Amino acid sequence: EVVDSKYRTQFHFQPPRNWINDPNGPMYYNGIYHLFYQYNPYGAVWGNIVWAHSVSTDMINWKALEPAIYPSKPFGVNGCWSGSATILPGNKPAILYTGIDPQNRQVQNIAFPKNLSDPYLREWVKPDYNPIIAPVNGINASAFRDPTTAWHGPDGHWRLVIGSKRKHRGMAIMYRSRDFIHWIRAKHPLHSANGTGMWECPDFYPVATQGKLGVDTSEYGAGLKYVLKASLDLTRYEYYTLGYYLRDVDKYVPDGTSADDGSGLRYDYGNFYASKTFYDAGKKRRVLLGWSNESDSRQDDVSKGWAGIQIIPRVVLLDSNERQLIQWPIKELETLRGKLVSVQKKKIKSGGSLEISGIMASQADVEVAFELSSLEKAEPFDASWTDPQKLCELKGADVKGGVGPFGLLALASANRQEQTAVFFRIFKGLNSFVALMCHDPSKSSLRPGLSKPIYGGWVDVDIQKNGKLSLRSLIDHSVVESFGAEGRTCITSRVYPSLAVGNAAHLFVFNNGEEDVKVSELKAWEMRKPLMNGI
Ligand code: FRU
Repeated sequence: EVVDSKYRTQFHFQPPRNWINDPNGPMYYNGIYHLFYQYNPYGAVWGNIVWAHSVSTDMINWKALEPAIYPSKPFGVNGCWSGSATILPGNKPAILYTGIDPQNRQVQNIAFPKNLSDPYLREWVKPDYNPIIAPVNGINASAFRDPTTAWHGPDGHWRLVIGSKRKHRGMAIMYRSRDFIHWIRAKHPLHSANGTGMWECPDFYPVATQGKLGVDTSEYGAGLKYVLKASLDLTRYEYYTLGYYLRDVDKYVPDGTSADDGSGLRYDYGNFYASKTFYDAGKKRRVLLGWSNESDSRQDDVSKGWAGIQIIPRVVLLDSNERQLIQWPIKELETLRGKLVSVQKKKIKSGGSLEISGIMASQADVEVAFELSSLEKAEPFDASWTDPQKLCELKGADVKGGVGPFGLLALASANRQEQTAVFFRIFKGLNSFVALMCHDPSKSSLRPGLSKPIYGGWVDVDIQKNGKLSLRSLIDHSVVESFGAEGRTCITSRVYPSLAVGNAAHLFVFNNGEEDVKVSELKAWEMRKPLMNGI
């Protein structure tokens, strides 16, 4: 099989060929990171799903192994879908995943490593007593999937949730078990929300209100808040809320700081889905993985021979304001940083731009800090602008503003016929300033027939007090993964330039606002290619 490598990413996770989707069962075990993922061994479209398996010591360099879980027994003959790993007492990993059975029902199965002394845990055994959880007593057998990592309570019971829905109500159905094998459904779901539809890939975990350390999924006590995330198959976006876990009644209650109807907070406001976190006991951090699908056509996927990437793993922390999460690429990514170009204290005049040259701009890590000396010219904020994505559509990169749009033009051709714009705009609201972050790939390619959605999110910063805004973009041939304001707002886009390819890709800082902005510092590193599954 020939794979077209023109748009292949170089430091984002990919197998050598074929279709991938959700990250599955990420875990850290005896010094090794394991990443399993949904994979079609036979082609570049979804189907024939198995758990492909890669291992790493840094989550940047990956070694591909044989698929770990694949249809071999009746309880998963029609597919081995998403699930999670839990490390059981005695340091024994277990995987729970959704199998598609002979009647095409979604059932939950368990698998254990065949040989714990194999450092890579290559082979996994699926006992014949599977499935261990079946869709009975009114559960919709085609909406019952993606078990979470389990957590342990002081009553000696394990708990986990499984994504589901009842009519239009999305929910996380809860199960309890003493021995991890016999599971009993709880009377009430952990949580549900009307109008959100099927919850795929739920995730539930604690975050610390103080400090920068992650927290194990079974942790409980003072100084913790909880995160509940669901991937909505209705909109193909994820959302999360922050809240409380009432352990005596086994319920999650959102704290009300963000909407609980699918319209609120997201890890990523772009092309990002089916994410999952795990607790990295080695580095005491919680790490997020997620799938970024192609945004070209199915036919393009077939002809290039591959589809889908995983984002760069991100550390997840609670913002000190306790209203949202903060995410940042794991620091191991920085080992790939090569040639550096930098800029200090450079004013970008209204309507002006600055080219950052000297590195291969199609494979780069760019960090830039903007200083805003005055917000006087900020446009008034219209209270009807409730959807940040719509506002970015209304005001793309070429629409002049007061303060902003300013930011980066990634994967740009020399004359900027092609460009993927990553930028901020500042508006003057009634009581405070409002910051918006956008990805505008509408000019990302001259190729016809591509989908080029504009994305946007609010940025929760006190811009008046700080007078600063930072941006980091990971640019990797067909992906731009951006982190605004130290990781408060993240956006990922998939783009397919026709001119801005390889060494012909350029990088600019731009300012289409009336107000000048200052780049207090910019650093752009060309990125080396890690070991990537033998590619
Ligand atoms: C999410 C999802 C999961 C399912 C898997 C199948 O992308 O639809 O709900 O388990 O993918 O590949």
